[in-house]
Amino acid sequence: MTMKTMMTTQLENGRETQVLLADGLKDLSSHLGEYGRNVLWVFDTNTAKLFKQLPPSNVVLESGESSKTFSSLERILGAALDEGLARDGRIIGFGGGVVCDMAALAASVYMRGCRLTLVPTTLLAMVDASVGGKTAIDFKGMKNMVGSFYPASEVLLSIDTLRTLNDKEFLNGLAEVIKHALLSQNEELYKFLLIKKNEILSRQPEALTTLVELSLMVKKWFIEQDPTETKGIRQFLNLGHTFGHALESSSHYGMWGHGACVAWGTCRALEAGIAIGIGDKAYASGATKLFKSYGYEIDYRIGRGDWIEFRDHLLKDKKKADGKVLFVLLEKQGTASLHPLELQLVQHLVIAKPIF
Ligand code: GLY
Repeated sequence: MTMKTMMTTQLENGRETQVLLADGLKDLSSHLGEYGRNVLWVFDTNTAKLFKQLPPSNVVLESGESSKTFSSLERILGAALDEGLARDGRIIGFGGGVVCDMAALAASVYMRGCRLTLVPTTLLAMVDASVGGKTAIDFKGMKNMVGSFYPASEVLLSIDTLRTLNDKEFLNGLAEVIKHALLSQNEELYKFLLIKKNEILSRQPEALTTLVELSLMVKKWFIEQDPTETKGIRQFLNLGHTFGHALESSSHYGMWGHGACVAWGTCRALEAGIAIGIGDKAYASGATKLFKSYGYEIDYRIGRGDWIEFRDHLLKDKKKADGKVLFVLLEKQGTASLHPLELQLVQHLVIAKPIF
């Protein structure tokens, strides 16, 4: 059986990513079986468990963010060399965002670039990490500090894997989907999220397939316009991430997942837009309600004693002009812009009472 093409993205230098949809895990396995022997698989300790017997050439990383290191990169490159992978060989990353980022980074530098297939198994990796070519490791305590742009030639999706995720992991990805809905040039995804909430939360395969496809269409629009984030367009995909990453990195909030932080951060960005007079109040209120309806803790505010640590993480953000952190704010559906914010306003937004 051949897999269906869900989407194709055209990036710079003629690089194309084909996103293919499998009709279940069997279909996926038979497609992967066609690659033959000149391949190296990268798993993590979770995705390795999905196989009764692992393919012969493999690296299994410890699951989690702590694997995004130079030593994991060295392990993958060392295994590729030991297996005699040639430049026309292929690295296959099978897992969530960490596996996708690591496999892609290794493929981008192995013999100056070998073939790359990604099989994202989480919602977050399906709608974000696997498409668009960003690869990275964390460095000196900072997320994604060292990396490259190296799009996979193929991204293979099997929607069944989403049914195996725990709720926290599912909500990690769903926050990025809702973020895409707000950034989209049309309201299709936003309306789908409003109408199909029950089907999405109960993970009905048809609803999930449409959800992933609509979300990827939004990402495609941004990455095709600005593949290497140099034109001031792709950075809008970071909506909610400056506030969100600061929360995620603050020690008291370690139990909050990435998605919970992004949802919270997006709502703070919507409020910031209103505070500086560019945001549409009715739109911000509706978007905040949408996040709440999916169970995110939007009204939460940090303790006063956590502000200094939060601020210090905020100031490490990569998006800066004249030393000031820039925030992606949203005026209304699909209209984002970058703004520096006074720290006093940020402090007010993150520790004050909710507006909505
Ligand atoms: N995750 C945002 C981007 O791919 O640009």
